[in-house]
Amino acid sequence: MLQQLSTEELPKVEKEILDFINTCTTHEELKQSMCYSVEAGGKRIRPLIILATVQAFRKELTLPVYQTAGALEMIHTYSLIHDDLPAMDNDDLRRGKPTNHKVFGEALAILAGDALLTGAFQLVSETTLNPSESVLLIQLLAKAAGSSGMVAGQAGDMAAEKHHVPLDKLKAIHRGKTGALLTFAFVAGGILADQTEYVIDLLEKLGEHIGLAFQIRDDLLDVVGTTEMLGKQIGQDEKSDKSTYPALLGLSGAKQALIDELAQAEATVQQLTEATDFQPKLFEELLTLFALEND
Ligand code: IPE
Ligand code: IPE
Ligand code: MG
Ligand code: MG
Ligand code: MG
Repeated sequence: MLQQLSTEELPKVEKEILDFINTCTTHEELKQSMCYSVEAGGKRIRPLIILATVQAFRKELTLPVYQTAGALEMIHTYSLIHDDLPAMDNDDLRRGKPTNHKVFGEALAILAGDALLTGAFQLVSETTLNPSESVLLIQLLAKAAGSSGMVAGQAGDMAAEKHHVPLDKLKAIHRGKTGALLTFAFVAGGILADQTEYVIDLLEKLGEHIGLAFQIRDDLLDVVGTTEMLGKQIGQDEKSDKSTYPALLGLSGAKQALIDELAQAEATVQQLTEATDFQPKLFEELLTLFALEND
């Protein structure tokens, strides 16, 4: 079921992103730089969550759903381009290819990120959704991406290099830098599927657990994964002396924290099943993507 969404529906999201970039970008090299990072691939987990959530509530996948999913992936891709810059994590490899700044230079990489970020909001504003729904999505996306969400988390991450912050602070950093966009994916899916406030609250809770789990897993894979499998250089967190779950809790402590978050996510899926006409099977499949054994 999830496989079918990936192979048949995600290309439609990618088409919305590339059509947007190609029709709305007037500077040729900027366009190439934006397309380079989008076309490099990636797991597309955030758009997949939006599609899966809409479908789990038995609603049709419409053009505004693909466009909202595309906008979220554009913001995520921008966050990776900037995350890799020398002033941040200084990485040379991303999605199996040289990082954007290695190919296009720092200035254009920064600008490609800027354009993907700004363009995402334009894309959501141009859907055929009714104005109140699109304003709500734009507002939630701005909050998730901005100075109380992903950007705040990234600022916390940079400030926590070279000294290890306590667990509650690390959790807050992870919730911001990674959790906020993933939470938006679940919540946006619920909004696009016309769900009640109660259900949206449960989706938010689910997103928070999955978001934290995702970054714990990312931290673990930086230690136990391979460059071939991840398409990015491993061992970078230790090299930059980042605050991470394995650095703070050790490998087994971090693995246990991941298991605990996923158990809480599963319990939330159970609550969703009790609350509404919801297809849990799709979500059970989705949750397996976040376990360490998936790789
Ligand atoms: C990497 O995200 C950055 C984090 C938030 C951990 P992904 O692991 O989703 O990266 P792609 O999109 O698959 O390249
Ligand atoms: C980055 O976290 C989260 C973002 C907002 C991009 P990381 O710095 O751990 O992501 P990777 O490991 O470079 O993908
Ligand atoms: Mg980083
Ligand atoms: Mg990084
Ligand atoms: Mg990482």
